[in-house]
Amino acid sequence: MSRTAPGRRPRLGVLVSGNGSNLQAILEAQRAGVLEVDVAVVISNRPGVRALSRAAAAGVPSLVVDHRERPSREAFDAELLGALREHEVEWVVLAGFMRLLGPGFLGAYRNRVINIHPALLPSFRGLHGARQALEYGVRVTGCTVHLVDHGVDTGAILDQSAVRVYPGDTVDSLEQRIHAAEHQLYVSVLQRIARGELLIESDTAGQPIIRGAGGRG
Ligand code: GRF
Repeated sequence: MSRTAPGRRPRLGVLVSGNGSNLQAILEAQRAGVLEVDVAVVISNRPGVRALSRAAAAGVPSLVVDHRERPSREAFDAELLGALREHEVEWVVLAGFMRLLGPGFLGAYRNRVINIHPALLPSFRGLHGARQALEYGVRVTGCTVHLVDHGVDTGAILDQSAVRVYPGDTVDSLEQRIHAAEHQLYVSVLQRIARGELLIESDTAGQPIIRGAGGRG
């Protein structure tokens, strides 16, 4: 995928599966002018989810590609790719998207797929970051924005934000604070990409070269 031309706003495709509070944070920051990107399309693999109404309320095109109605993972990925290309998407932003993307998809958007995870990676990978942190008894957890590679929550880290765990926290209360941190962190990372302060390129082997990661300045 080509880099965004200087002076142009990067075009994002946001993939969702559910609530979409991170999508909402991105849309609000965009509307407020603090995030200089264009959300070109929102795609959900599940019909009827709240993220789709959030996109509609913001006037952003959205569509559903239901994985259950596609014959294979490859067919699902290919349809996603087609829709993203149709909307000239440069960066794929996963915001609570609950499907793994295959090698064909990741090859097409090499080092251009970004995810947010509700823990300080490499701790607590997988689906239940807040629950795992609470069960383990850590005093500090947080969230991580990272590139998506072929593993689960294993891609290069772009930035992280810490969230303290308080005595008496429940999964719900901790998740709420992690979510609030996520909204700020995702917008901040995307804005640094948009401004060229965070540069992500690929070496000849396809590995990411990241300049400007860490420190939100
Ligand atoms: C977030 O906690 C994110 O870290 C994880 O999925 C959740 C999505 O929340 N990947 P929302 O749909 O953005 O509200």
